Amino acid sequence: MTSLKNDIFLRALQRQRTPYTPVWMMRQAGRYLPEYRESRKNAGSFMSLCQSPDFATEVTLQPLDRYPLDAAILFSDILTIPDAMGLGLYFEEGEGPKFERTLREESDILKLAVPDIGTDLKYVTDAVSQIRRALDGRVPLIGFSGSPWTLATYMVEGRGGTDFLTIKQMAYARPDLLHHILDITAQTVTAYLNAQIAAGAQAVMIFDSWGGALSHHAYQEFSLQYMKKIVSGLTKENEDRPVPSIVFTKGGGLWLEAQADTGANALGLDWTVSLGEARKRVGSKVALQGNMDPAILLSTPEAVEKEVARILADYGIGSGHVFNLGHGITQFTPPENAEAMIKAVHAISSKYHL
Ligand code: CP3
Repeated sequence: MTSLKNDIFLRALQRQRTPYTPVWMMRQAGRYLPEYRESRKNAGSFMSLCQSPDFATEVTLQPLDRYPLDAAILFSDILTIPDAMGLGLYFEEGEGPKFERTLREESDILKLAVPDIGTDLKYVTDAVSQIRRALDGRVPLIGFSGSPWTLATYMVEGRGGTDFLTIKQMAYARPDLLHHILDITAQTVTAYLNAQIAAGAQAVMIFDSWGGALSHHAYQEFSLQYMKKIVSGLTKENEDRPVPSIVFTKGGGLWLEAQADTGANALGLDWTVSLGEARKRVGSKVALQGNMDPAILLSTPEAVEKEVARILADYGIGSGHVFNLGHGITQFTPPENAEAMIKAVHAISSKYHL
């Protein structure tokens, strides 16, 4: 493998010294880019983009060809796992992801099994290898998965972003059934992330997009506990380098201390917390990634630069910060505002790295 030309993102995740603050954006390859919309049209659908290593490579590289980003993220989706488990993922225009079958009956739940990653999810690891070859050491490649809790919300509810009443009812009435789903899913996520690492992913991120919907105690029991298990089962080194991990619970700002104890190298933060305060709370245990509100990218380059300066000052002097959005970039973002953000991070942050 070619050596990495820019490893600043990997070093920041390990809280090592860097000359500036590295930056990437959640959903950086997506609908706000006209070239992405063109590729999706050519592929026919979002899932065909994910399932073709050629297309996945093409769209992963699109934001890197436009902007001086410090990391690439595999183009795929967290819902590849429930799809591989046989639930039938589909997308309806303008409505987000849905499943043909849901996991609610005891008999279906007890039949749930870890899919064969090497066959059912081979299209993902093939994409990772091909993207690594295409990157040729430009920047590190991030692999990812959903958290067991977040994947289970889709499997039980059949769709995302609901009030989660069906899965919460299961959590409180039949915790044994939900724990069975979470356990099988955690085993799957561990094997899936390790397969991505073996194929060339140089860091991994676990997206717990719906962890923030849980109560204080339920978060520990149904989400955090499983992420901790996954982190402890991850391959820690590959190609003679550490493979750092990032845990991101959207809406999880109240539980940062507990997240810092998972063993992950870094925590993702949404925009509801102050980076400076979060840094004091987690101390030297983890690096922090975040946390600009993606809605700021709907404003003007001047407003974006002001917010970048504020966030960098909030984190303060020293390493251990990866600049990112607090959640995915919206499809309505003018591409020039994303560029203003990335350039401002590089220009302003060097004074915090002495
Ligand atoms: O960050 C990246 O650029 C990598 C690719 C990536 C996608 N999804 C591509 C995608 C990643 C890391 C994800 C993760 C993902 N997918 C999460 C966790 C992060 C988060 O947003 O909380 C979740 C919950 C999903 C499930 C999912 N997939 C949803 C809710 C949607 C609809 C979103 C929307 O904006 O309509 C998707 C589809 C999806 N995944 C798109 C992209 C680029 C849009 C698809 C399209 O219409 O082209």
